[in-house]
Amino acid sequence: MADKKARLTVDGLDEAIELPVYSGTEGPDVIDVRPLTGKGLFTYDPGFVSTAACESKITYIDGDLGILLHGGYPIEQLADKSDYLEVCYLLLNGELPTEAQKKEFIHIIKNHTMVHEQMSHFFNGFRRDAHPMAIMVACVGALSAFYHDSLDINDAHHREVCAFRLIAKMPTLAAMSYKYSIGQPFMYPRNDLGYAENFLHMMFGTPCEEYKPNPVLAKAMDRIFVLHADHEQNASTSTVRLAGSSGANPFACISSGIAALWGPAHGGANEAVLTMLEEIGDEAMIPEFVARAKDPEDPFRLMGFGHRVYRNFDPRAKVMKATCDQVLKELGVENEPLLKIAKRLEQIALEDPYFVERKLYPNVDFYSGIILKAIGIPTSMFTVIFALSRTIGWISHWSEFHSSPNRIGRPRQLYTGPKKRNYPLL
Ligand code: SDX
Repeated sequence: MADKKARLTVDGLDEAIELPVYSGTEGPDVIDVRPLTGKGLFTYDPGFVSTAACESKITYIDGDLGILLHGGYPIEQLADKSDYLEVCYLLLNGELPTEAQKKEFIHIIKNHTMVHEQMSHFFNGFRRDAHPMAIMVACVGALSAFYHDSLDINDAHHREVCAFRLIAKMPTLAAMSYKYSIGQPFMYPRNDLGYAENFLHMMFGTPCEEYKPNPVLAKAMDRIFVLHADHEQNASTSTVRLAGSSGANPFACISSGIAALWGPAHGGANEAVLTMLEEIGDEAMIPEFVARAKDPEDPFRLMGFGHRVYRNFDPRAKVMKATCDQVLKELGVENEPLLKIAKRLEQIALEDPYFVERKLYPNVDFYSGIILKAIGIPTSMFTVIFALSRTIGWISHWSEFHSSPNRIGRPRQLYTGPKKRNYPLL
């Protein structure tokens, strides 16, 4: 039921068009423009800057105040007190698990971490220097070739089984894509390790000796997973929802999310930040790069800065920065040159009117790469880590979409091409 009404008057129309206005539990009201159908009008919002594409209960962002809530819980508290698998449960179910629920959830995930042995042959088709994101797009989509037993998208149990399989198998596939690139044997998951510990084991362990994950690095890895878990209707999540609206299977939908995340304007930014910091190379070079970022004629942008929604600090960036300091101190590399360049760059940018006027602040990607590099993860794997973490957000939104009546997403356009014309008589 609409709480309020909007009335739209349009030159040339005899009567105003009445549009329902709905209020959520938080955030801006929305104007329901569906009554425009049949009135010869479309709304126009390239980039969906002011468009609410759906109703959702999963995550709330207040860009002006720099607030991010999952199931109502602030990201700062979840990063400090929770862990990734507990956040996965929260995003899937809308509530934190009881101790018993959490224990059962962890048991289920631990027992789905292996991939079908045939998947390992799939990798052999790739060049060793293939970008791991290319491998992930392919392999995650290919999972649908193995799980015909749970692809009924209208069956809530099937949707849950797919979510479990994806949460459990993404670290395994991610680590396999890394091992393949360095010519080392794949490491099987170990059920005696925690989620992040197991990922580090599959990444850095070898059959030659037991791998003992560093608990500080494992905790930092788990926190990075938490910070990237979900983020409302971002480009990749919207891609997953749109792919899901056609009835495509969940593995194909998640693969489409991985593809969308890969771009440097989105999840690919963490890899681009490291490349940028290495290109800057020295604090003395910062002014030149800041000038380039401000030059409208130069396509260069300060990677890891700015956000479509946040017009304040990205709350995840604050936690990431603190975690970065902790990890580098623990590793005895607190004087890491790239961190010093990043901190100086942040300081300069935040004092520069160009960035201040446009409300451009560091986002989640600005510091994450420095931590990942310190953990020993190669730059090419940074966006894979983001995709691994974000899988729970993608599958939670996909599942939410299919848990209520829905329609295929099919936007329209403002057509400015040629009017109808006849094929020239020969
Ligand atoms: C993620 O949506 C999400 O939630 C995404 C994400 C998630 O968790 O899913 O948070 C993850 O993708 C974070 C963003 C990572 N991307 C980057 O760090 C790449 C660098 N940032 C920019 O490309 C940009 O800020 C975007 C893509 C993030 C946002 O682009 P918008 O909202 O379309 O903003 P815009 O391009 O319209 O910029 C507005 C102005 C422009 O200047 P003017 O035309 O007004 O003069 O700000 C400028 C832009 O040129 N600007 C920048 C800039 N970002 C914006 N100038 C220099 N450097 C930048 N980074």
